[in-house]
Amino acid sequence: MIKITLFKFMSILIKNRKQIAKIRIASRLAAEVLDIIKPYVLPGITTGQLDKICHTHIVQKQHAFSACLGYRGFPKSICVSVNDVVCHGIPNNKQVLQKGDIVNIDVTVLKNNYHGDTSTMFIVGQTSETGKKLCEVTKKSLYLALQLVKPGIRLQNLGKQIQKYVESQNFSIVREYCGHGIGKNFHEEPQILHYDAEDNGIILEPGMTFTIEPMVNAGEGNIHLMKDGWTVKTNDGSLSAQYEHTVVVTEQGCEILTWRKDELIPRIITH
Ligand code: MF3
Ligand code: CO
Ligand code: CO
Repeated sequence: MIKITLFKFMSILIKNRKQIAKIRIASRLAAEVLDIIKPYVLPGITTGQLDKICHTHIVQKQHAFSACLGYRGFPKSICVSVNDVVCHGIPNNKQVLQKGDIVNIDVTVLKNNYHGDTSTMFIVGQTSETGKKLCEVTKKSLYLALQLVKPGIRLQNLGKQIQKYVESQNFSIVREYCGHGIGKNFHEEPQILHYDAEDNGIILEPGMTFTIEPMVNAGEGNIHLMKDGWTVKTNDGSLSAQYEHTVVVTEQGCEILTWRKDELIPRIITH
């Protein structure tokens, strides 16, 4: 996710079939990393070990790169965000996962000059009712937005839908970070807001590729950046969850490029 900024010029790149095919490959690799790391997300493992396993898989098995490693100086290959960490948690060898933790792992793979970006939540052992509900609501908010994606709709509708649903469940949307266009660039236009904002006039078109990646807090939506310059935490110490998919707008709806087998939503959505 990227910090919300105001772009001076608007230019949304529409991708052709060949470009989409490359984003699809990178996206499948990113999704695969979440599949392979799943059995390791257990009490006692460090976030640094999770990073190492993912890094090795990306480089040695996928013959690809982590787009996170070195991105604006980010020191590791994945982001691991535990409990009250909203996003951009830096893996390290001191942080040991405990039973009850809720953990977001965010992976961006770069393959043949194209990116795929996805994240999901893992529950370590069992967690609180709030933790479980927060993960369910956050995932559902992403799914509700994905179900809207088709040519001709206003981009604004996605954020509206996410906010409406999340707030109906008494949770809060984080507003400072947003989804993004993706392709040759890790982050490009448009910004995908996860809340209702002033209409920027953007209408979805086939060939647009972007992420949707709502961050949802169990308590208030306010957040702060830690001294390490990356880790973002909730101000009130409440739990935070996030799910992210990379999608392409198709003629009839969308294709979820980072779709995994365990999802409760079809890979291709048609209307
Ligand atoms: N993967 C994040 C996103 O969804 C960005 C992480 S940037 C990093 O956009 F440098 F923290 F890795
Ligand atoms: Co992203
Ligand atoms: Co991401």
